[in-house]
Amino acid sequence: MTSPTAMHIRQLNGTDVEIYRVLRLTCLRESPHAFTTSAEEFSQRTLDSIAQQLRGHENFTLGAFEEDRLVGMVGFYRENALKLRHKGYIVSMYVLSEYRSRGFARALLIEAIARAKRLPDLKQLLLGVVVTQTAAKRLYESLGFEVYGRESDAVKIGGEYFDEEFMLLKL
Ligand SMILES: CC(C)(COP(=O)(O)OP(=O)(O)OC[C@H]1O[C@@H](n2cnc3c(N)ncnc32)[C@H](O)[C@@H]1OP(=O)(O)O)[C@@H](O)C(=O)NCCC(=O)NCCS
Repeated sequence: MTSPTAMHIRQLNGTDVEIYRVLRLTCLRESPHAFTTSAEEFSQRTLDSIAQQLRGHENFTLGAFEEDRLVGMVGFYRENALKLRHKGYIVSMYVLSEYRSRGFARALLIEAIARAKRLPDLKQLLLGVVVTQTAAKRLYESLGFEVYGRESDAVKIGGEYFDEEFMLLKL
C-alpha cells in the first residue's frame, strides 16, 4: 500500500484539463445526488471551456493527488458583482470512493479555506449540500460551516426530489 505521506494538494491549471475532466465525469456519474450539475450536461462541455475555468484569476480548483494520480478535488469561485464580492462558494467537493476516510477531503477544504482567507475583502464562504450527503455535511460542520437554510425539493434526480441545505462560514 502507498504511504499516506505521498498525498499532496495543489491548484489545477489549464494543463490538468484532461485528468480534471475524467475525475469530474466520474463523480457526476458515481455520486449524482451530490451535485447539481448532471454528467450529461458536463460531458457536452469542450476541453477549451474547461481549461479556461481552471485558469481563473481568483477562482480555483484544488486537486488532491496520491503520487501522481488525481484522487479528489474541490472548487472555489467568487462573486463578481461589487455588492456581492465579499462572498465565495465551495463547490464540486469529491474524493474517489477507494481513497475515502484518509483525510483527502479535509486537507482539500482546509487549503481552500486558507486560500480564500488570503483574498482581499472576502468575508464569507457558502455552499449547498443535498441532504443525502451526510459525510460531506459532517466534514463542513467540523470546519465551522453552519446551516442557514434549507430548500425543499431543491434538486430533481431521475424522478425524485431532494432537499438541499445551505451552509455558511464567516472568515
Ligand atoms: C464527502 C467526501 C468528499 C469526504 O471525503 P473523504 O476524503 O472520505 O473525507 P475525509 O477522510 O477527509 O474525512 C473528513 C471528515 O468528513 C466526515 N466524514 C467522512 N466520511 C464520513 C462518513 N462515512 N460518515 C460520516 N462522516 C464522514 C467526517 O467529519 C470526517 O472527519 P473525521 O475523519 O475527523 O471524522 C466523500 O465522501 C465524497 O466524495 N462523497 C461523495 C461526493 C459528495 O458528497 N460531495 C459533497 C458535495 S456537497
